[in-house]
Amino acid sequence: MNKKTVLTGIRPTGNLHFGHYFGAGKNWLKLQENYEFYLELADVQALTDNFQEPTKIRENVYEITKDILSIGIDPKKVHIFIQSKIPEIAELTVFYSNLVTMARLYRNPTVKTEISQKKGLFGANGEGVTYGFVGYPVSQAADITAFRGELVPAGDDQKPLVEQCREIVRKFNSIYGDVLKEPDILLSKESRIKGLDGNDKMGKSLGNAIYLKDDEKTIHNKVMKAITDPNKIRKDDPANPEVCMVYYYHKLFNQENLSTVCQECKKGRRGCVACKKELIEKINEFLQPIREKRAYYDQHPELIDQILKDGSEVAREIAKEVVFEIKQKMSIDYFSE
Ligand code: TRP
Ligand code: SF4
Repeated sequence: MNKKTVLTGIRPTGNLHFGHYFGAGKNWLKLQENYEFYLELADVQALTDNFQEPTKIRENVYEITKDILSIGIDPKKVHIFIQSKIPEIAELTVFYSNLVTMARLYRNPTVKTEISQKKGLFGANGEGVTYGFVGYPVSQAADITAFRGELVPAGDDQKPLVEQCREIVRKFNSIYGDVLKEPDILLSKESRIKGLDGNDKMGKSLGNAIYLKDDEKTIHNKVMKAITDPNKIRKDDPANPEVCMVYYYHKLFNQENLSTVCQECKKGRRGCVACKKELIEKINEFLQPIREKRAYYDQHPELIDQILKDGSEVAREIAKEVVFEIKQKMSIDYFSE
């Protein structure tokens, strides 16, 4: 049976947090069982808006790899690779850049939003935006097609990028002949998770992220600060769990005692401090095996190098094949080697 190819990428700009785990990682654990899975550490894309901080990106390639492995992604099943180790992606990016208009790139909703979020870097009205940043959807289309990606597991925000890739594929095929396949996005069902501060989203820049690598003390401090029902003043006041972020997290980590938490909260038989402590314990239970795996890799950095090297080698083989075919179609296959 031929497995379908899944390709997804992540920008190595910071450690993975619970938002990544519930929005993506949990789904990757399922996908790795049934698909040919390529997981790209998109360092070149990360540099498009972090070009002044190359060492940060480099460090995070290793950090994220450890995060990915610690949640149980199996490098025997998933090809974890580094974007910059696949120069064919850069080649494809150049070829595809003729097939996209500037207007279309500026109209890409994700690009638009990101430019307006990065005023410090790109100017108040985006007047200082770089060629590289505006063009990153082209490079992402190269990411996907270089491995003949058929399914792209990603969140809502990536829809316009996959759509842009599909357009490039159609244009390429119509001009040069059918070689590329249009990928489909595989939207994650459990997308966003909220922050303990009540924000609809968890994120590094929002300052509410709980990281997979957080230690017990950090978890304790973060949970103790969580927003609870503001109408509950005393320990035995009845409250409404539905407006409480601690309860929201009990839903994620303490499914087995959820109805007890809910009932006791409503009846005023549960204090918020005790309720938070129970949650802290549950989160630590969840993180226990993840911490153990991470500690193992922390002690064996040579394994991380080997995994990335092997993953990049396998990935590069496919990318070379694809570029070979593409060059033939484009009549730039000089001197067959
Ligand atoms: N743009 C994606 C993000 O910011 C990362 C990414 C890079 C990606 N290459 C990709 C996602 C290819 C899907 C497919 O999260
Ligand atoms: Fe939230 Fe628990 Fe306090 Fe109820 S008892 S308000 S669920 S922290």
